[in-house]
Amino acid sequence: MSAFRPDLMRDKVVFVAGGTSGINLGIAQRFAELGAKLAVVGRNHDKAQRAAASISSEALAYAADVRDYTAIRTVLADAADKLGALDIVVSGAAGNFLAPTLGMSANAFKTVVDIDLNGTFNVFRACHEFLNLPGASLIAITAGQAVNAMPLQAHACAAKAGINQLIRVMAMEWGPDVRVNGISPGPIANTEGMARLAPNEATRDAHFARIPLKRWGEINEVAEAAVFLSSSSASYITGTILDCDGGSQLGDASRINLDRGLA
Ligand code: COA
Ligand code: NAP
Repeated sequence: MSAFRPDLMRDKVVFVAGGTSGINLGIAQRFAELGAKLAVVGRNHDKAQRAAASISSEALAYAADVRDYTAIRTVLADAADKLGALDIVVSGAAGNFLAPTLGMSANAFKTVVDIDLNGTFNVFRACHEFLNLPGASLIAITAGQAVNAMPLQAHACAAKAGINQLIRVMAMEWGPDVRVNGISPGPIANTEGMARLAPNEATRDAHFARIPLKRWGEINEVAEAAVFLSSSSASYITGTILDCDGGSQLGDASRINLDRGLA
């Protein structure tokens, strides 16, 4: 059960990049439940439309690629024009696959860095002129790979580590008007990320063994973390990365994929 009152986000304008499925869609749905006005963007138009319909009858759906700065700026401008200045922006678009460094072309590495890291730069850099200042809150969705190296994850480790530093630099530069934070989810049940990163029982077992709370995370638990970071309860918090992972980053990820391979 949520600790937050039902009107906590009443009339707040929230933009979620990558908000058309999984964790980010759950975040968008939770903000809408608390009274916010939502816009979401993903690459696939039909998927974005379905996501918006699941959020609220007024939610806006956009199709654009976070790797394309101009396209992302255009949809941010349109959302601000239709809904009002943006109070909260979540950057969560990501791509991932298991591959050893020698099984990864230069373009494969670049693709993940472009979506995750450059995409987050694009979303945050482009949204600044449309923010409701002072008091705006930005949240980037990062991952444990940012701090704990993991075999078969060179691209995601590099990209998410970059996101963590981007969060900190923007928090320093954009205070006092904007707070910039991150959420680092652990293994979250029923997500594309988990399906890709734990494709077999042995890998799932290895991930599970690292979780002190001894269960998979739920999408709604990451959503509650996003609501907290965007609320006045977190008014003195900026530049932080909040682990929402059952403690899984406290353990050792160094052998998870090495011993089990891709299949
Ligand atoms: N192993 C090795 N290389 C892979 C790969 C894999 N499993 N999957 C893709 N690649 C490579 C491709 O071969 C290509 O490299 P090449 O041009 O040298 O052949 C490069 O990555 C880009 O692939 P492409 O399919 O053109 O990229 P895209 O921009 O259409 O899609 C992905 C991006 C690959 C990340 C795709 O998986 C995706 O859209 N993911 C979004 C959903 C997701 O990952 N969710 C989980 C979030 S944690
Ligand atoms: P998901 O369902 O695949 O969500 C990814 C979202 O990003 C989709 O809406 C997707 O829509 C969009 N997207 C992907 N590439 C894009 C691009 N280039 N431009 C615009 N939008 C793009 O993934 P998830 O598993 O919920 O993960 C969500 C976030 O949580 C990611 O940042 C991930 O790294 C992080 N995370 C997840 C886990 C986990 O357990 N799942 C753990 C740690 C961190 P389109 O495909 O239509 O573009």
